[in-house]
Amino acid sequence: MSKNGSDGANGYVEKIETRGETFENATLPPATFGQKTKRHFKRFWWLHLIIFCASFLIIALCLVYVAMPHIAQDGVNDTSLRFYELQFLNPSPTQITLTQKAGLHSPSFYTPTLDPFSAGLWLVTNGTFSANPFTTIQFPSVHALHPDSNITFANQVLNILDSDLLAEYATEVLSQPNVTTALTGSTNLHEGKLPTVNIKYNSSTTYTSLNGLQGFNTTNLRLNLTAPAGQPNLLGTAFIPNPSVMTIEMGNVTLELSTASKGVVGVATILNLTISPGDNNLPMTAVVNETLITESLEPNGLVTMFIIGNSSVYNGNHITYYEKALSSNKLSLQMNVTQILLDSGY
Ligand SMILES: *[C@@H]1O[C@H](CO)[C@@H](O)[C@H](O)[C@H]1NC(C)=O
Ligand SMILES: *[C@@H]1O[C@H](CO)[C@@H](O)[C@H](O)[C@H]1NC(C)=O
Ligand SMILES: *[C@@H]1O[C@H](CO)[C@@H](O)[C@H](O)[C@H]1NC(C)=O
Ligand SMILES: *[C@@H]1O[C@H](CO)[C@@H](O)[C@H](O)[C@H]1NC(C)=O
Ligand SMILES: *[C@@H]1O[C@H](CO)[C@@H](O)[C@H](O)[C@H]1NC(C)=O
Ligand SMILES: *[C@@H]1O[C@H](CO)[C@@H](O)[C@H](O)[C@H]1NC(C)=O
Ligand SMILES: *[C@@H]1O[C@H](CO)[C@@H](O)[C@H](O)[C@H]1NC(C)=O
Ligand SMILES: *[C@@H]1O[C@H](CO)[C@@H](O)[C@H](O)[C@H]1NC(C)=O
Ligand SMILES: *[C@@H]1O[C@H](CO)[C@@H](O)[C@H](O)[C@H]1NC(C)=O
Ligand SMILES: *[C@@H]1O[C@H](CO)[C@@H](O)[C@H](O)[C@H]1NC(C)=O
Ligand SMILES: *[C@@H]1O[C@H](CO)[C@@H](O)[C@H](O)[C@H]1NC(C)=O
Ligand SMILES: *[C@@H]1O[C@H](CO)[C@@H](O)[C@H](O)[C@H]1NC(C)=O
Repeated sequence: MSKNGSDGANGYVEKIETRGETFENATLPPATFGQKTKRHFKRFWWLHLIIFCASFLIIALCLVYVAMPHIAQDGVNDTSLRFYELQFLNPSPTQITLTQKAGLHSPSFYTPTLDPFSAGLWLVTNGTFSANPFTTIQFPSVHALHPDSNITFANQVLNILDSDLLAEYATEVLSQPNVTTALTGSTNLHEGKLPTVNIKYNSSTTYTSLNGLQGFNTTNLRLNLTAPAGQPNLLGTAFIPNPSVMTIEMGNVTLELSTASKGVVGVATILNLTISPGDNNLPMTAVVNETLITESLEPNGLVTMFIIGNSSVYNGNHITYYEKALSSNKLSLQMNVTQILLDSGY
């Protein structure tokens, strides 16, 4: 029975196969989905190749022209600058010469090249940008290496766009422990054979500044009681510590000396004052009214002298942005008049 049954089954299968062959040579029957797809691909492979290529091209173009600018801008946003040297030299009312050596930190693994561009230099106070940039600097062409590369801006003569804002910057530099400035601009970025991308640059940097000249002092003070009126009668050395990387040339600087009880008691002068990084010891001369100083003596034999910058003259020009900064920073110094007289040989 079982043998017959299996024979019967075989016969059934053969029948179906025969039917199948018959159908294949006849008009199309309802085929399975797989068969349909296979046939479709066999006939229209060229269409699929074109669609595939077009999609690939669109995705590639999207990556290159949509994602790539975003990635490039992101990379630029992530960069930061730090200053190794910052020199403000040869000041005039309308121009100042800047030399800066900066390190560009770039966390991105791309190593793009930026074209040179004009960058606005802004003062940022408590996170707020000044109304305008106070000057424009020429950012050189930069090949940004990963993770660090150095940029030098050498001897750039900057036009002062806003003297009041520069005065604000100078005031913050003089009086605060640190100062923040930003450079902004836009330029082209090149990365290998990829298309050029226009990027926006907007980078803030906080750096150490002069901290109110904390530690200012005078040494080797000598009084000359026989100097004629109006001639320097107090000589000494001004000690100006500079914890920053900034070099600031201020020209001939005068400082007003005053005491609480007598007001202005003299004027000190430092010729060719250039504050360099580190400790500065600069010759200082002063014309003081000895009578007023004697009258200002406190019971302990000391005189508390207040010192406020009054003028900064460079090549005959008043440098008002430095004068404003200097006049906003009040220093005080305790002077032992007995000691000074002893040191002076009296
Ligand atoms: C880059 O930073 C600017 C703000 O400075 C922002 O508007 C922009 O969306 C940032 N771009 C990217 C790609 O993160
Ligand atoms: C900045 O903030 C400090 C305190 O955090 C404040 O003393 C100073 O006045 C602020 N400066 C400006 C310009 O707002
Ligand atoms: C950049 O300059 C600083 C100071 O001169 C130096 O210490 C540093 O190694 C330099 N960095 C590179 C990447 O050249
Ligand atoms: C900068 O100085 C301010 C005080 O003016 C201080 O609060 C801040 O912590 C300093 N920031 C840095 C980065 O040193
Ligand atoms: C730079 O970015 C700051 C925010 O970080 C924004 O307030 C300022 O307007 C931007 N400046 C420019 C010139 O894009
Ligand atoms: C100035 O120097 C003298 C002696 O070197 C010192 O006693 C005095 O505290 C200093 N004054 C200031 C304001 O640092
Ligand atoms: C004091 O000043 C007078 C006139 O300027 C000068 O002749 C004299 O040498 C000075 N004395 C000292 C000790 O410097
Ligand atoms: C000050 O600088 C001028 C040039 O800027 C120079 O001629 C002069 O000799 C300098 N004087 C002193 C005392 O250093
Ligand atoms: C010093 O000040 C007193 C009081 O103001 C004045 O009478 C005197 O003429 C002044 N001396 C000099 C040398 O200027
Ligand atoms: C410098 O002193 C003179 C006279 O004392 C004064 O008229 C002038 O306003 C002062 N300048 C500054 C910037 O303080
Ligand atoms: C400072 O004054 C001296 C003497 O008046 C002058 O020779 C020198 O050129 C002045 N320095 C500057 C930088 O103007
Ligand atoms: C001022 O100097 C004299 C002489 O050196 C000294 O005897 C005196 O103690 C000093 N006064 C003060 C308050 O330091």
